[in-house]
Amino acid sequence: MRITPSFFKDSSAKDSSAKDSATKKSGPQVKDAEGVRRLYDRLAPIYDLAAKPFWALGADGLISKAIDELHLEPGSTVVDLGTGTGRNLPVLSKAVGPKGRVIGIDLSANMLLRAQRRLSRLNISNVTLLNEDMATYEPPHETSAVLATYSIEMLPNSNAVLNNLNAVLPEGARIAITGLRTPSRWPKGVIRLASLPLRPFGVNESYRPHQPWLAVANLQDPTYQEAFFGAMYMAAGSTKPASILTSMP
Ligand SMILES: C[S@@+](CC[C@H](N)C(=O)[O-])C[C@H]1O[C@@H](n2cnc3c(N)ncnc32)[C@H](O)[C@@H]1O
Repeated sequence: MRITPSFFKDSSAKDSSAKDSATKKSGPQVKDAEGVRRLYDRLAPIYDLAAKPFWALGADGLISKAIDELHLEPGSTVVDLGTGTGRNLPVLSKAVGPKGRVIGIDLSANMLLRAQRRLSRLNISNVTLLNEDMATYEPPHETSAVLATYSIEMLPNSNAVLNNLNAVLPEGARIAITGLRTPSRWPKGVIRLASLPLRPFGVNESYRPHQPWLAVANLQDPTYQEAFFGAMYMAAGSTKPASILTSMP
């Protein structure tokens, strides 16, 4: 399904903002880079197993759609931000072929260790893994596509990161992200209950104001799709001249 950028608007954002700032003071907090690193270093050994039910609920389908939206060609360079245990890497590697290049970025060395094992097991040699923060990472100028699956919403400044990508990537480069969002029509109790299994992954209500799909809506030819009754999304678009994006939220 392709829909217009107006559908990107999040009706739950306004009514939640007051509570979010209250929650920030007393309840769960957005993790800083060190907190994310510690959490995912700890989760790494069980991540693939623990995330399986989540993939089955629609997250997997959205990733496939996001990868399609990258329009990868043999010889392309693609960056996977927050690559984790590298589940996207084999598909990306195959799509860009032996002359192409895949770069996987992650804060957690333990997650990257799993990714490296996956690559060795599958004999994949066109992937570089970097233990870096996506908040400050600058992709090589020949990068034609950037992917982030269930990772970029962890950043409080994800809009700045997307804005920067738009500025540094060649015009027409593709950006595709998938993530979680608070479904606007779900009753609060259901949202609370449904988010419980995600808590071990660091997901909590303080992340609600993080809405990177809004930044993607400002790209050229934006595409948007939801799964699991609006609790997961995929957003994609092409970069355009940076000046057009200066008014981005
Ligand atoms: C939920 S996992 C998703 C992993 C993978 N993309 C997937 O779909 O399975 C989130 C990943 O993002 C990484 N991450 C979060 N914030 C990051 C940052 N600022 N820079 C780099 N990696 C980050 C975490 O370390 C973790 O591996």
